[in-house]
Amino acid sequence: MRIGIIGSGKIGGTAAKLFGAANHEVAISNSRGPASLAQLVAPLGSRVRATTVGEAATFGEVVLVAIPLGKYRTLPAGDLAGKIVIDAMNYYPQRDGELHLGALTSSELVARFLPGARIVKAFNTMYFETLGANGEPGRPVDERLALFVAGDDADANAIVSRLIEEIGFAPVDTGSLRDGGRLQQPGSPIYNKPMTARDARAAVRGQRP
Ligand SMILES: NC(=O)c1ccc[n+]([C@@H]2O[C@H](COP(=O)([O-])OP(=O)(O)OC[C@H]3O[C@@H](n4cnc5c(N)ncnc54)[C@H](OP(=O)(O)O)[C@@H]3O)[C@@H](O)[C@H]2O)c1
Repeated sequence: MRIGIIGSGKIGGTAAKLFGAANHEVAISNSRGPASLAQLVAPLGSRVRATTVGEAATFGEVVLVAIPLGKYRTLPAGDLAGKIVIDAMNYYPQRDGELHLGALTSSELVARFLPGARIVKAFNTMYFETLGANGEPGRPVDERLALFVAGDDADANAIVSRLIEEIGFAPVDTGSLRDGGRLQQPGSPIYNKPMTARDARAAVRGQRP
């Protein structure tokens, strides 16, 4: 697939490496421009290139967004309309400022800003070092570490889930962007707790009303 990445830090950079190694075409970006990414992409092979934010959004069939949530209003909403957008962001008020979420989950806030985008919340619950080191494509899916997936578009969820499997993790569905998205937010019992798919499914079931 063609995968755009917006945000080239711990999560974006790690995902670029993993998706490139899984033979996807990756275009990664940050706010400072492609020249600032030369060192990051150099060791990652010809499938991973540096680009602008707008080009990453246009290029990707799937676009992973991994920037501080407080910057979400800088995302190119027009270019992301119709795209599968993976929201890997989390809300940390000390970093992101007051966002006035009200009853919304952070992904619902992002979805409102990106009309027409097919938002899937994923890659947000796992520490980047775990993501970078613990994918095991050769292992049975149930025994792999879980990466949680929430969203309201079943086809988009399935495509993101397949990408997760290709890089050696187990996708575990938490539900809608509202209920699953809330379960995936910081502070929840499944947030940043590495667990196998089997344990993860039980943990999700245990949180359902
Ligand atoms: N660290 C983790 O283990 C982890 C795990 C799961 C989820 N997350 C979440 O993922 C998001 C990214 O976290 P991170 O740890 O990867 O952060 P990070 O290492 O600080 O990287 C953030 C990246 O976003 C870029 N950026 C900042 N503002 C931007 C903008 N307006 N447009 C485009 N790019 C922009 C930064 O580059 P420039 O400043 O050069 O633009 C940088 O490449 C956060 O929401 C975080 O909560 C983090």
